[in-house]
Amino acid sequence: MKRRQFLKSLAYTGAAGLILPRTKLFGADAPNNKLNIALIGTWGRGEAHFDGLKKENVVALCDVDEKHLAYGAERFPGAKQYVDWRKCLEQKDIQAVVCCTADHTHAFVANWAMNRGLHVYCEKPLANSVEEARVVRANYLKNKGKLATQVGTQRHAIENFNRVRELVLDGAIGELQEVNAWGDRKLPRPGYPTAGGEPPAHLHYDLWIGPSPFHPYNAEYFKGGSGMNCLSWNMYWDFGSGQVGDMGSHTMDLAWNAIDAALPTTAEGKGDPLNPDVSPVKLEMHWDIPANDWRQAIRVGWYQGGALPESPSRYIDLKRIDHGAIFEGSKGVLVADFNTRALYPQGNQADLTYYKPRPKSALLPPLGDFQREWINACKGSLKTSCDFDYGGRMIEMMLLGLVAYRTGKKIKYDGAAGTVTDAPEASALLSRKYREGWTLNG
Ligand SMILES: NC(=O)c1ccc[n+]([C@@H]2O[C@H](COP(=O)([O-])OP(=O)(O)OC[C@H]3O[C@@H](n4cnc5c(N)ncnc54)[C@H](O)[C@@H]3O)[C@@H](O)[C@H]2O)c1
Repeated sequence: MKRRQFLKSLAYTGAAGLILPRTKLFGADAPNNKLNIALIGTWGRGEAHFDGLKKENVVALCDVDEKHLAYGAERFPGAKQYVDWRKCLEQKDIQAVVCCTADHTHAFVANWAMNRGLHVYCEKPLANSVEEARVVRANYLKNKGKLATQVGTQRHAIENFNRVRELVLDGAIGELQEVNAWGDRKLPRPGYPTAGGEPPAHLHYDLWIGPSPFHPYNAEYFKGGSGMNCLSWNMYWDFGSGQVGDMGSHTMDLAWNAIDAALPTTAEGKGDPLNPDVSPVKLEMHWDIPANDWRQAIRVGWYQGGALPESPSRYIDLKRIDHGAIFEGSKGVLVADFNTRALYPQGNQADLTYYKPRPKSALLPPLGDFQREWINACKGSLKTSCDFDYGGRMIEMMLLGLVAYRTGKKIKYDGAAGTVTDAPEASALLSRKYREGWTLNG
């Protein structure tokens, strides 16, 4: 074949290398470099992922609600459709999974997906029990060399997160002693809704219940608008962990990002009287976090539902911040919400001479689009800012706080073994009981 003929035949048979502009051929957005993704949960929070996923190949959609599945299929008509995520994960061309289901299935989907060699983006909270957090984190650590993971705490990309970290690391408040985060959302519920008739035909209710103990259908669980429906079920222990896993995942991240923390050695919690059905509205939890190579051991706390850390000054009204964190150091205090921060030097020594702000050139770089960070990681770098190690440790600490709250006393924790060492009654609360036929490690 003559050279000219050969080139012509390549172009004709779709050897696109000769006819497409170079920018489209190489790099993260190249057609041959698109990721095959399964979106599990195709309405609600799932919708927030549509635009980003449109740039990739969404090859599978899964939702227990056939109306929601149809809604997703309007956006991704070429994808195969499923109502059971276990069947969905068997589809052979899937490379990565975005999980937007209810909290009580997150660890399941994440763990099963990693067992099949799939990258995972999992909406917060990553787990609904200490054991789930540990299983998912351990699986990720085993596969860290080949899988990219991200917990869906997208506020992490707000540049204020980096600015807060720099202030703490650079000593703007002296030596860090304590960090407390809080949230003011209140969703009081009396108990599980009573039986409310048959589920609608488009909803596979038994699959929605999934691994959790069965509770009869009630429309109450499904009354919320898109992206807000989680508030209809996340207060019930079998489906969520209330504000601890909900806004707690986002707001504690503001603190967690700045403290490079290992697992706690103790946990304690107090708040509303224990309700066997519903997680507490008002709650305060504390942990002892070991020292690391740049700071001493610190206390970390979480307050919610009307509980608040003490203000360091009568000029600072923490009630005016709905979700925030306060870092207390030997020479000052840093108060932050998601977008802003305020530094208060305190005491006779607080002349700020000890603090040298870093030059602009040394500021931590912006993270960019949070979902894109994960997609790029799947395509090569494997590096994300909220991987299942970082996010897994954080939610393990938070859920351990709920174990202490339910135990009713301060507990000691062996983070290496995942055991409570001084309260046998707490051990049973580290894990959840699953319905027959469901396994976390499938
Ligand atoms: N990152 C954020 O800012 C943010 C915001 C809202 C919600 N969320 C999280 O996203 C998740 C979903 O919240 P939501 O308000 O969209 O809830 P939702 O009840 O609307 O559920 C989302 C979708 O998942 C489907 N679904 C539920 N269980 C499923 C299962 N086992 N298999 C397949 N599909 C299933 C539902 O039918 C629905 O279409 C929650 O875990 C919540 O914490 C995160």
